[in-house]
Amino acid sequence: MKLSNKTLSQLPKGVVVPTYDRSHLKIKIVHLGFGAFHRAHQAVFADILASEHKSDWGYCEVNLIGGEKQIEDLKQQDFLFSVCEMSYDDWSTRVVGVAKEALHADIDGIDKILAVMTRPEIAIVSMTVTEKGYCYLPATASIDTDNKLIKHDIENPTKPKTLPGVIVEALRLRKEKGLKPFTVMSCDNMPENGHVTRNVVLALAKLRDANLANWIDQNVTFPSTMVDRIVPAVTPETMDKIQKQLGGIEDPAGVAGEPFKQWVIEDKFVNGRPEWQKAGAELVDDVLPYEEMKLRMLNGSHSFLAYLGYLAGYLHIDECMQDPNYVKAARHLMLQEQATTLRVQGVDLQAYADSLIERYRNTGLKHRTWQIAMDGTLKLPQRMLDSIRFHLANNTPFDCLALGVAGWMRYVSGTDDACKAIEVSDPSADKIKQLVATSKDNEDRVTALLSLTHVFGEDLPKNQFFIDKVTKAYLSLRDLGAKQTVQQLAKNF
Ligand SMILES: NC(=O)c1ccc[n+]([C@@H]2O[C@H](COP(=O)([O-])OP(=O)(O)OC[C@H]3O[C@@H](n4cnc5c(N)ncnc54)[C@H](O)[C@@H]3O)[C@@H](O)[C@H]2O)c1
Repeated sequence: MKLSNKTLSQLPKGVVVPTYDRSHLKIKIVHLGFGAFHRAHQAVFADILASEHKSDWGYCEVNLIGGEKQIEDLKQQDFLFSVCEMSYDDWSTRVVGVAKEALHADIDGIDKILAVMTRPEIAIVSMTVTEKGYCYLPATASIDTDNKLIKHDIENPTKPKTLPGVIVEALRLRKEKGLKPFTVMSCDNMPENGHVTRNVVLALAKLRDANLANWIDQNVTFPSTMVDRIVPAVTPETMDKIQKQLGGIEDPAGVAGEPFKQWVIEDKFVNGRPEWQKAGAELVDDVLPYEEMKLRMLNGSHSFLAYLGYLAGYLHIDECMQDPNYVKAARHLMLQEQATTLRVQGVDLQAYADSLIERYRNTGLKHRTWQIAMDGTLKLPQRMLDSIRFHLANNTPFDCLALGVAGWMRYVSGTDDACKAIEVSDPSADKIKQLVATSKDNEDRVTALLSLTHVFGEDLPKNQFFIDKVTKAYLSLRDLGAKQTVQQLAKNF
């Protein structure tokens, strides 16, 4: 039996279910990217508001690329899905009821999605589509006009496939109909996610119609957000545990994440917003310092552990935390090499680092190092390279960061320390493969990978001090393996 309105009453007592009248919810937010993270984060905030604060903000959930099954599942279960919190062996579950409609571009057609986005009552279009979804070049933070799908959208603007293309077309239709625009809110892990979204949307609009671009520029806001909650990809084991939580009822759209959640939002909305602060979100004037803190301390250390951990055979983050040298190195990276580069004020960064280490230790999470390691070319700039630039400018040490970059290079070279092949998943995988195949496994490999200027910019590949540091770390990984290299480094801390 599956989760649905009918089966809600059969759930075990401890499961939190919607106690509010779902028919009173109005679809005022279209969310693009009905992935694991959105379900356990923004949807939970909305659910808390509906159940505890009489909010009527409901969602239309959309997937543009991938995730067909998730949308089909949601439709079949009256748009209900469960979110479990896993703290070591202790689990708790809530059934979220704020979704009212679900669409997929390939199943329902893009016209239906655009029709929802141009309903007058839509106030916000939010998104969690991973870094790839923005079709941008991290080194310039602007649109990648060589991207095949962007090329498609330039040629077929009324039948867009990409996130920027869909937003531009929906806004054009709203302008044409004389409707108010909506606010565009990114909830992806990127620095200045609001600025990136604005840049790609405006760049694509400009290529189409200068007047439209001007109207968007004048009328639409793109608040940046800092989002935090670790929500690993669902595995068959997680699915079984979710079913157990639901007393045997199946929920293929269910997800499980850690208990912690945080959301800092730049408060600039053109057409109203839910009272997220009542559910614990922070509405601020400038989200950038928080974003930077999270990207460098959390995501930066996550990537470090992912590359060095995967090479050493640690499949999950909590396994890395059982190795005292990895803990030492991660803490050093957070406090000595990332915290020192930050602008955020009034936050106890020592306590923040401690809380991160504690969260990583959660053995209930099973967060795969492989999952965190993917799409490295889009992640390295904001997670490690910006801090490295800070240290180069200030003449301060960055040994852990250099090892993190070398770890990525070793990882994308394609074999772990036990000589097992690595399945490298990255939008630049073809180029990386070619660079690896045509370089020797020594300093030559470092030089070859540094030629990816969309990752390393023009400056770092010319900085001999940086090259030497990364090369030394790379050669140590090649000769000693990750565990021993981390151990040697941790001896100094
Ligand atoms: N999972 C986490 O712990 C976590 C924490 C903080 C932030 N985030 C952010 O959320 C994002 C999504 O994470 P998730 O766990 O939901 O991943 P997921 O794999 O479960 O979902 C990815 C979503 O992105 C969509 N998507 C993928 N490629 C796309 C493309 N090219 N164009 C449009 N849509 C595309 C898919 O349809 C799917 O809905 C992350 O990349 C990150 O930026 C995740």
